[in-house]
Amino acid sequence: MVKYTPIAYPISELIERRWSPIGFDSRPVETEKLLSLLEAARWAPSSRNEQPWRFIVGVRGQGDTFGLLADCLTGRNREWAPAAPVLVLTVAVTVFGSGKENLHATHDVGLATENLLLQCIACGLHCHPMGGFDGARARALLGIPKEAQPMAIVAVGYLGDGEHLSESLYGRDQRPRSRKPLIELALERWDKPHPLVVDEPR
Ligand SMILES: Cc1cc2nc3c(=O)[nH]c(=O)nc-3n(C[C@H](O)[C@H](O)[C@H](O)COP(=O)(O)O)c2cc1C
Repeated sequence: MVKYTPIAYPISELIERRWSPIGFDSRPVETEKLLSLLEAARWAPSSRNEQPWRFIVGVRGQGDTFGLLADCLTGRNREWAPAAPVLVLTVAVTVFGSGKENLHATHDVGLATENLLLQCIACGLHCHPMGGFDGARARALLGIPKEAQPMAIVAVGYLGDGEHLSESLYGRDQRPRSRKPLIELALERWDKPHPLVVDEPR
């Protein structure tokens, strides 16, 4: 499903077509596609080329990682996300080898994660990042050391019809997409919109 995205200026089709569904199909993700997602993430830029990202990958039916990740989800994420066939925990290594703090680690993991999300779209998949999980539990269950910070769990899979969802969740995938207007985001000074931005989103 291509969800209507009210863009104000032309953008890459991959960015326009990405959205975060909750109605995943249980169909497995092909291994080659999964590896392409991780490869896309690997080629993100990072401060000092430190590549502070790590991905803990859970594939349903393969080992126990998927179940452990599903067990870390919180709130309503527990209702829909375990239906996706793949869960990926993104982790930021927050210190350099020298022991100095890497202040850009979480920024760079965000960049790598967006690469992964866009590669999903390029592969005909969908994905949904979640901050709603228990990071302390993830640390304990997956052996993550103190120098690393669990960031998000990303559900990955093919889009389904959402018919397995409860009534209260079902409508969420039909909600229109929304963003703040560009005029609020692109600035000349902190309190002054950039004069290049003249249009309101169409
Ligand atoms: C770091 C992060 C944490 C998020 N946490 C959750 C979450 O716990 N549960 C959820 O349903 N969506 C979560 N989302 C998805 C956002 O709600 C979604 O990206 C946003 O509403 C914009 O919608 P779109 O991705 O469809 O464009 C998260 C997204 C990000 C980037």
